[in-house]
Amino acid sequence: MVNWDLRYAGEDYFYGEEPNQFLAEQRHRLHAGMRALVPADGEGRNGVWLATLGLDVHTVDGAASGVAKARKLADQEGVEILAEQADLFTWDWPQSAYDVIASIFFHMPSAVRPRIHANMLKALKPGGLLILEAFHQEQLRFRSGGPKDVDLLYTEDILRTDFVDARIQQLEKCRIALDESDAHRGEAAVVRLVATQR
Ligand SMILES: C[S@@+](CC[C@H](N)C(=O)[O-])C[C@H]1O[C@@H](n2cnc3c(N)ncnc32)[C@H](O)[C@@H]1O
Repeated sequence: MVNWDLRYAGEDYFYGEEPNQFLAEQRHRLHAGMRALVPADGEGRNGVWLATLGLDVHTVDGAASGVAKARKLADQEGVEILAEQADLFTWDWPQSAYDVIASIFFHMPSAVRPRIHANMLKALKPGGLLILEAFHQEQLRFRSGGPKDVDLLYTEDILRTDFVDARIQQLEKCRIALDESDAHRGEAAVVRLVATQR
């Protein structure tokens, strides 16, 4: 199991300081004043980017060193975020609270994943937007990052089942050229989802 606190202990940003590419491509859906939740935001690159667009950001991660660096990155960019350290498996998820949730490379064991995805959906306001990218099970063939345990990896069917109650706008498996720091670089297999709360 990865020790995220240790992974984020250095000065450098493990996944870089730029937002995830798929999230950045959704820029046209994101508007100042939206309330955003970024679960498992690591060192805050995605939450901080959303805050620079004027969104009101609540970012949560289990790693204390990641949360501290998210706050530092927010200071560096001159924005404010609410950065919370919490275990999202036991977190008291707010309900109907957010306009957008960005879940980027949040990989969970299958024993908890459906419940956490259901919590994400319930945390959205009606019409709220979920943007999710995660590694596909085919990522096991590549060396460009991600968990090496198939139980932590996704398929379109897994997401279709987890988000059966959502209105799915985009759901696809993609082969991409990942370029997000040394930790995420090279050919990669991901699943990408855009969905709205009904
Ligand atoms: C691959 S990293 C992705 C970080 C960030 N989303 C990004 O794209 O830069 C996965 C993150 O999930 C967090 N995480 C995993 N399980 C968690 C849990 N139960 N509660 C909170 N955070 C968790 C880890 O601490 C880690 O920061």
